[in-house]
Amino acid sequence: EEEQNRSSLLKGKKVLITAGPTQEKIDPVRYFTNPSTGKMGFALARQASLMGAEVTLVAGPVTLDTPPRVKRIDVTTAEEMYEAVTTEFSHHDIVIKSAAVADYRPKNKYEHKMKKSTGDYAVEMERTKDILMTLGERKTKQYLIGFAAETNDVEYYGEQKLRKKNLDAIVMNNVSAEGTGFAHDTNSSIYLTKEGKRLVLPLMSKDQLAQRILTEAAETVSGEAT
Ligand code: CTP
Ligand code: CA
Repeated sequence: EEEQNRSSLLKGKKVLITAGPTQEKIDPVRYFTNPSTGKMGFALARQASLMGAEVTLVAGPVTLDTPPRVKRIDVTTAEEMYEAVTTEFSHHDIVIKSAAVADYRPKNKYEHKMKKSTGDYAVEMERTKDILMTLGERKTKQYLIGFAAETNDVEYYGEQKLRKKNLDAIVMNNVSAEGTGFAHDTNSSIYLTKEGKRLVLPLMSKDQLAQRILTEAAETVSGEAT
């Protein structure tokens, strides 16, 4: 019976999830990226689908298989992710941004491979758009959940992001802690809502964490509807 309850908690809901890193090219053979593998976002997509949601997954370059019944949109750069996510945003009920989006990209992109020469080389970088911040400004009915990847003062920075980006909840990860964050199969985190509900989620599999996050969101969203 419990299984049945779980698999219908998000029935009729549309859930938008982002996953993975972005890649920002400097020339055809070189790019800037980060260690994200997409496991957390794919776990969220898989679990949301199991809970009955209609799931759209916007994925950066990763090597994972698409979970069953999930609509996947592949992107490479932060700009492409911005375009895909802002296009999809309006017709979703719950939006979870677990992607590790590049904050900067090379200001100049070279058409041909650059040849090395002696001496140092500096790359000028420019800011990308903050996708989550844009969603926070535009949101109407959407329940918006962000992630915070921190190495220090996790709760301080996490709560700042929750407020600044107008989120409904944030999942804060200490990415320098053992077994947590980039490329691991497990995560330990603190989940904080804008109402101040704070859940300490100890080290668990990313699928388990995904279930916890989605259950919290589903209960809040359906609680608001009644
Ligand atoms: N994010 C985003 N677009 C960006 C950068 C980040 O949508 N250009 C989202 C991430 O997907 C995540 C949240 O913002 O859900 C927090 O990302 P994080 O890197 O922890 O924080 P930043 O706001 O980028 O700040 P900083 O990296 O300086 O800590
Ligand atoms: Ca960042």
